Amino acid sequence: MNPGARPAGEATEAAAAEHVREIFDSIAPKYDLLNHLLSMGLDRRWWGRAARSFREVLARPDARVLDICCGTGDMTSALLKERPAGGAAVTGLDFSAEMLDRARVKYESANAVWVKGDAMHLPYADGSFDLVTSAFGFRNLTNYAEGLAEIYRVLAPGGRIGILECNQPEGLSGFGYGIYFQRVLPVLGGLISGDRAAYGYLPESVARFPRPKQMLKMMAEAGFVESAWDGYLLRAAGLYRGMKALG
Ligand SMILES: C[S@@+](CC[C@H](N)C(=O)[O-])C[C@H]1O[C@@H](n2cnc3c(N)ncnc32)[C@H](O)[C@@H]1O
Repeated sequence: MNPGARPAGEATEAAAAEHVREIFDSIAPKYDLLNHLLSMGLDRRWWGRAARSFREVLARPDARVLDICCGTGDMTSALLKERPAGGAAVTGLDFSAEMLDRARVKYESANAVWVKGDAMHLPYADGSFDLVTSAFGFRNLTNYAEGLAEIYRVLAPGGRIGILECNQPEGLSGFGYGIYFQRVLPVLGGLISGDRAAYGYLPESVARFPRPKQMLKMMAEAGFVESAWDGYLLRAAGLYRGMKALG
């Protein structure tokens, strides 16, 4: 079986995707609050840091930029901060209407286009973008190899991929992280959101997600070159970067 998200052990990719969408629709009202709280405010720094890694592309006024799994729009907004005045809009795409509605309200005056769509079947022609990003969204896809292939397809030759994701560190920091992530976070998240199952899915989805070595191998298999991973905060998260070969 291809690795991908499987909430509550769903048997098929279609059922798993529907379940993921339901989880995000249901936690959308409390998502921002919980995100900032449970990450202890680090999420904001990480979105900014990831966006700055693509300054070169983002500085080009005509750069075509897509942020998939954009949720309530914070990564999209971080990308916009690196855009020049008068530059082309950034597209934020998500399949949860509830998450996307919040992005539209929060960033009403931003130079962004919000699109309801499935990251596994992007509604764009081959070679449409110069940069495709995802923050804490990619690990929710139900087939990682196909998710990477879809990003590769919509990138133009020389286009960049940026995937900011959680990681499971090893050693002593991994032990502390494991306790927080497996024990504290699901309880806190469940209490505040009123949805214990949704916050049980979070550590589960991180545990299933490939470690950097395996993810970089999958990126190479999808055709990406110059791929690398930068670990953030004792490797608790990190940014995967790569490029679609020039041709
Ligand atoms: C953890 S949230 C991350 C949101 C945002 N990028 C952030 O950093 O806060 C994951 C998002 O991925 C979206 N998502 C998961 N699978 C998706 C898919 N196949 N297509 C589009 N969006 C998807 C969910 O709806 C959710 O909004």
